[in-house]
Amino acid sequence: MPNHFASYPSLAERTAFVTGGADGIGAAIVQQLAAQGSRVAFVDKNVDYAQRTIERCVAEGAAHAPLFYEVDLLDIAQLQGACESAIADLGGVTVLVNNAASDDRHDWRDISVEYWNERMNVNLRHYFFAIQALAPQMIEARLGSIVNIGSSSYMMQEDFFPGYAIAKSAVEGITRTMARTLGPHNVRVNTVLPGWVPTERQLTKWWSPEGERATMNDQALKKRITPEEFAQMVLFLAADDSGGCTAQQFLVDGGRF
Ligand SMILES: NC(=O)c1ccc[n+]([C@@H]2O[C@H](COP(=O)([O-])OP(=O)(O)OC[C@H]3O[C@@H](n4cnc5c(N)ncnc54)[C@H](O)[C@@H]3O)[C@@H](O)[C@H]2O)c1
Repeated sequence: MPNHFASYPSLAERTAFVTGGADGIGAAIVQQLAAQGSRVAFVDKNVDYAQRTIERCVAEGAAHAPLFYEVDLLDIAQLQGACESAIADLGGVTVLVNNAASDDRHDWRDISVEYWNERMNVNLRHYFFAIQALAPQMIEARLGSIVNIGSSSYMMQEDFFPGYAIAKSAVEGITRTMARTLGPHNVRVNTVLPGWVPTERQLTKWWSPEGERATMNDQALKKRITPEEFAQMVLFLAADDSGGCTAQQFLVDGGRF
């Protein structure tokens, strides 16, 4: 990759686990970590796109091809199995990026109990259980960085996907609660919040000229924030350079607030 971004010596050979790494922001995070020389494992339900991510990492000259485990994150036993495999295959995991989510649109009047549970499970529950599965060996290593990808949608009061925005608001609760729990063991927990990052899915499913105009009007920066730019904040938080930061949330949103 013609990468003009920073290199982090502490990320070389570091072991990382990323959820939702097949597409969008998660794929950029996998690729950017791999470009730093990290040893990365990722989970996703999209096997074809996972293969594409691995091929891109290899084509870009990554020292280690990422490992992939097919997981539907609605199934916590599958996630726990993949965490165990990653610990065994990588010899431990000291970076966790909780990223996978689903921003499907819906009206608050139509939310059934089943759909409410599904929205919480796809956008929130697996974040906690990935931490539960991976934190014990971070505690043992006295080294860990957990980065939870949130969303500024609830701060913007966006009202077209309440089951998503409400779940995303609780990502901040996971970060602050677990930062206090894990801090004494030198395990850090932070949130990074995208504003609008036009991924393939965003552009295919939700893009409209009016939507983009409104976003540009809101943003101080009048440009699209790329997944690669977004990933840089994740790299910084994964690296030892951010060793003093925990329990924080960082916006990468082009200055909407
Ligand atoms: N792109 C944006 O503008 C934006 C804005 C705000 C927040 N975010 C947040 O950024 C993160 C990444 O978003 P994105 O835009 O890259 O999304 P995306 O839809 O492009 O990618 C999500 C990835 O997660 C995977 N995934 C979804 N459900 C899964 C499941 N049940 N099991 C396994 N894998 C599953 C998908 O297959 C996909 O690879 C999410 O946490 C999202 O809430 C994105």
